[in-house]
Amino acid sequence: MKAVLVKSPGDADQLYIGEAPMPETGDGDLLVRVKATALNRADLLQRRGLYPPPPGASDIIGLEMAGTVVSRGKRCQRFQPGDRVFGLLPGGGYAEYVAIPEGMTMPIPDNLSFEEAAAIPEAFLTAFQALHWLGGFREGHIVLIHAGASGVGTAAIQLVREGGGRAIVTAGSEPKLQVCRALGATDAFNYKQGPFAEKVLEVTHGHGADIIIDFVGASYLDQNLTAIAVDGRMVVLSLLGGSVAERFDMRKLMRKRARIEGSTLRGRSLEYKIKLTTDFSQYALPRFHSGALKPVIDRVFSWKEVSEAHRYMEANKNIGKIILRID
Ligand SMILES: NC(=O)c1ccc[n+]([C@@H]2O[C@H](COP(=O)([O-])OP(=O)(O)OC[C@H]3O[C@@H](n4cnc5c(N)ncnc54)[C@H](OP(=O)(O)O)[C@@H]3O)[C@@H](O)[C@H]2O)c1
Repeated sequence: MKAVLVKSPGDADQLYIGEAPMPETGDGDLLVRVKATALNRADLLQRRGLYPPPPGASDIIGLEMAGTVVSRGKRCQRFQPGDRVFGLLPGGGYAEYVAIPEGMTMPIPDNLSFEEAAAIPEAFLTAFQALHWLGGFREGHIVLIHAGASGVGTAAIQLVREGGGRAIVTAGSEPKLQVCRALGATDAFNYKQGPFAEKVLEVTHGHGADIIIDFVGASYLDQNLTAIAVDGRMVVLSLLGGSVAERFDMRKLMRKRARIEGSTLRGRSLEYKIKLTTDFSQYALPRFHSGALKPVIDRVFSWKEVSEAHRYMEANKNIGKIILRID
């Protein structure tokens, strides 16, 4: 089969479409013809040789896909050849075919294209996990979402809105703030125009954020501890602003009775990811079907333009997901 391969670890020009062996399928796996996949920040790191796939996973890049079932292992029961499915992958999405455990797949709602479905798994499952499983999200909660226009950020805003909470975001440009507001954020701050913490306290009348979904890490830690509410929880999903904090005033942590929790999705056990996929499907698929939740797509590239797509993400240009059509 054809797949996107890496000549040698490095920049986006190292990517090319070459020949790779067909994936091996087990009794519980579906073999899927991939129609679309989507970019993730982890792909950029993996391309540079800085994020090796977990043991047993394909070493082809790609953490999600949407496509058509070609065949199924003898323990599979839910899907038939020809069914349209999508889901998270531990790797291997930038290819014509993938093997995926049946429990990790979801049926594509009839109203969504392959490109739209491919935009959902990483962004929405990560946001759902961070809010509902880790953050203890409830109706009425105030949630501060950093990188609000990112794939995960745009998903989190919608899930907060759907759950009856209030989303406040930070992002780096006015067009990004506008999209966040259109998705349901009540307040949106450009972090390049000054600190956000006091603004969050101001618009929440001193309450602060019950949950913070953070992708920035070290450079935001002090401000996050100012902006967090008493008994608040912060879920750290990425460290785009560095990993070693120069200032960490533990008094703030203690006075706020705050909790900080880190998480990565890719390295979780198969059992965990199947449970998350099942829980998410029950909550979200009817809402995608009704249009209450929408995948947010910035651009669709042909996979022949994969290097350009990677450069586009590296330039922080995207609002929502960048899709690769496997054509
Ligand atoms: N832990 C997990 O389980 C998990 C799962 C999925 C994704 N992630 C991570 O979550 C992050 C978002 O993923 P994504 O695919 O949604 O990303 P994305 O769409 O590429 O968006 C990332 C955005 O972050 C902002 N940003 C970059 N550097 C920044 C900095 N130093 N300070 C503040 N903002 C910065 C940029 O927007 P602005 O223009 O607003 O700055 C950028 O567009 C990624 O880092 C990804 O690796 C983690």
